Amino acid sequence: MPIKRNIDELIGNTPMLKMPTVRTDWEIYLKLEYFNPAGSFKDRTALALMNAAEKSGKLKKGMEIFESSSGNTAKTLAMLSASRGYRFTAVVDNHAPSDKLNSILAYGGKLHFCTEEEDSKGGHLVDVRRNIAKKLAKEKGGINLDQYDNPENPLGFYNTLGKEIFEQIPDTDYLIGTIGTGSSLSGSGRYLKEHGNTKIIALEPKGSSHFSPVGHGYFISGPGYPAGAILPKNINTSLFDKHDYVSDKEAFNTMRFFAHQKGLLVGDSSGMVLYYAMKFIKGEPVSEKIKKIVLIIGDSGESYLSHAFNDNWMIEKELIDEQINQELGKFYI
Ligand SMILES: Cc1ncc(COP(=O)(O)O)c(C=O)c1O
Repeated sequence: MPIKRNIDELIGNTPMLKMPTVRTDWEIYLKLEYFNPAGSFKDRTALALMNAAEKSGKLKKGMEIFESSSGNTAKTLAMLSASRGYRFTAVVDNHAPSDKLNSILAYGGKLHFCTEEEDSKGGHLVDVRRNIAKKLAKEKGGINLDQYDNPENPLGFYNTLGKEIFEQIPDTDYLIGTIGTGSSLSGSGRYLKEHGNTKIIALEPKGSSHFSPVGHGYFISGPGYPAGAILPKNINTSLFDKHDYVSDKEAFNTMRFFAHQKGLLVGDSSGMVLYYAMKFIKGEPVSEKIKKIVLIIGDSGESYLSHAFNDNWMIEKELIDEQINQELGKFYI
């Protein structure tokens, strides 16, 4: 194995794992993005955004980066800021699991918790977070990289995640991923569509409102967009062949099943795609030709230890569902 010279070189080229199921006519492959150094596919976001900002001259040595995040983008920006000599402040709210926030602090980043009252423009808390990150960057002579609207984010996924999946499984029939800013699935999905014959399935948490103006609260913290917030420009819905929802219960019980039964410690959006893949295949007729599904396993379960992997938290929130566990056990073998 070649010797790597810095953290950047550890990002990407993640493994693909085949997951056996009872259906031999469908093959499920897991693109294990938690092998990235900060534990999620958002390492690709941070790398793309930072590289582009440095190249344009907008990001200069010693500057402070301010970014609004549900946790993972901030975690990886904190990591790369440490390795490249920048200061970093994550603009967050209480929706982010404490494990992700502690990781940001562990990399030497700072946290700015925001409230709706803080922003004169008001709006949804996600919009407030985004405005505050921009405002702080302006006031303090720093920079906001804007993972939501900056086209470098999906482009980074097109050039790396999409290309890698195509090289690993060129005949992917379906790519299943989740949507927050929409960058990871829009970028990787575009690559697969341009180079092969792949259909894209986009999932969001039940209650999230990418495709509907109404929604309700949910505990899933990575993907999703709450009702009333201004949608990010980076999502390209025209690429999606199908769109659906997965609930907190389905996602969290699936995370726990894979940790307990398969030794795979994965995050909330991974629980969503693993649950949905089972539901989707069960609804499909037997196929003569083998069909291949690739699932984006976006992050590690280590970011949810005080959350979905905490029995007391799950019981308190009435999220334990033994039936989901049994259903998964009959499908994933
Ligand atoms: C674990 C996880 N999965 C999925 C997503 C959604 O990714 P994207 O913002 O590229 O749509 C996020 C976003 O933060 C995430 O942290």
